[in-house]
Amino acid sequence: MTARVLLVTSEAVPLVKTGGLADVITALAQALRQQGVDAAVMMPGYPAAIEHACNLKQAGTLPQLPGGPGIILQGTMPGSDVPVVLLKSERFDRRTANPYVDENGAEFDDNALCFGSLAHAAVSICAGETDVPLPHVVHANDWHAGLIPALLRMRGISDVGTLLTIHNLAFQGNFAMSAATELRIPDAMLTPEQFEFWGKISFLKAGILHADRISTVSRSYANEILTPRFGHGFDGLLNARRDILVAIPNGVDTGAWDPARDPLTVRHFSLNDMRGKSGCKRDLQQLFGLPIDPFAPVLAVGSRITHQKMADVAVEALPQVLEDFPRAQLIVLGRGDHAYEQAFLEMTERFPGRVAVHIGYDERRAHALHAGADMLLHGTRFEPFGLTPLYSMRYGTLPIASRVGGMIDSIVDAGLEGAVPEDASGILFDGEEAQDMVAAISRAFELYARPNEWHLMQRNAMSADFSWSGPAEQYIGVYRDIAPAEARTLFDKRNTAVTLPENEEAAEVAAMPEYMTA
Ligand code: ADP
Ligand code: GLC
Repeated sequence: MTARVLLVTSEAVPLVKTGGLADVITALAQALRQQGVDAAVMMPGYPAAIEHACNLKQAGTLPQLPGGPGIILQGTMPGSDVPVVLLKSERFDRRTANPYVDENGAEFDDNALCFGSLAHAAVSICAGETDVPLPHVVHANDWHAGLIPALLRMRGISDVGTLLTIHNLAFQGNFAMSAATELRIPDAMLTPEQFEFWGKISFLKAGILHADRISTVSRSYANEILTPRFGHGFDGLLNARRDILVAIPNGVDTGAWDPARDPLTVRHFSLNDMRGKSGCKRDLQQLFGLPIDPFAPVLAVGSRITHQKMADVAVEALPQVLEDFPRAQLIVLGRGDHAYEQAFLEMTERFPGRVAVHIGYDERRAHALHAGADMLLHGTRFEPFGLTPLYSMRYGTLPIASRVGGMIDSIVDAGLEGAVPEDASGILFDGEEAQDMVAAISRAFELYARPNEWHLMQRNAMSADFSWSGPAEQYIGVYRDIAPAEARTLFDKRNTAVTLPENEEAAEVAAMPEYMTA
């Protein structure tokens, strides 16, 4: 028998993605399987997920699910052997472009029911009501899966361990109390000691209270969320549960983000032969319609364009930087709040030939950006982990990032003045004012003009180890501790990777470029 873990999530690449969670889930499942744990991903059967998952077969029906009947489908992820379990329900059918919001950006009115039913379906799997193999551990990710630990206990299922990972505490799944009835949550659970949070029912709070373990995605963020500044109202609760809180950093899919082999970049390069980077820079300038200038420092921004990512600060700081450094170019790739998107677009008019902005979600452009730019600006008010700056580091594109959360753990700061420490790999800045950002970018431009120091930092950034094998091992340690007693040894004895039999459909899809639906 093999140790089995069910990773429950709302998104996973390459099926559906709006942020880093999707990258993390699939890469973690793969790394776990390589280390001999039979990890499967469970998520809603959004139309895109059903269309693109491979070899889907019915593995059960759940006629009594809250919000309407559901069908459990089982198959594999395109391009890998990771098993995927999809909950098909009419409720997910209209989620074609984005899993959470409609075309006007308004939250769907049945999010509570949709993700509540996902949790109920996961519990049905654990109860043996479907053909999906029974997991020893359910790994619930973010609020979308937050109800699972409590629902399991309410149904008296105690032979499954539960881990809740918080990828972003700002998103809590707080809904009107009236949702509770349809979700079959008894009144006794609707108290401030239980799921109630400021008059609402909170899925994340339920998870924090009932999971066997809670984890988050960097050591610094684990400490931050215990404070009022970063706790989003949950710091008291998390402090009360701090004995079961662990920090496990994410990794990076080093196969997908590899300067030496990236199929989405025009030239390849590595630590020992950086010549291809200038070809990538030229391609980037061309792709975004800027003049080709190998000596212009190219500053990139590539993320969700939101308040969390300090878009408001960036649109104030960047014009000043462009005034101060007349040769600099700015390239922006992102999507988010309309007002900030507009402010970035206005910069293209104010600085013609120097600023290029692509509003949208685009994988090819993201790879071109990380590979071809000289530096990546990543201002952020809080950052549980932060994958984007790490992607850029893999390509020797140095991050200029806020000193928060995962950024503290993964970037070694060159400081705002003086000599550059031997191990520096980027620049960190404090504060949320335009001046704080301007000072950090100015320092980056200053160092860019000092090739010895710049190349040293590039080497440090490119040789940092962000692989998944260490984090996967840490997760397995946690799974072992929370697995039912009789299954613990399965998590110890893992000699070989778990693989599925070859299937032609999966191999064929693996050759296709990745697409995203979000
Ligand atoms: P978050 O999950 O908070 O958005 P992360 O940095 O952890 O932050 O993950 C963001 C993910 O989304 C990365 O994989 C990044 O490359 C991707 N991404 C964000 N915006 C875009 C975009 N406009 N085009 C392509 N990829 C994007
Ligand atoms: C969230 C966080 C981001 C993290 C990602 C994956 O989206 O905002 O910092 O990298 O989850 O854990």
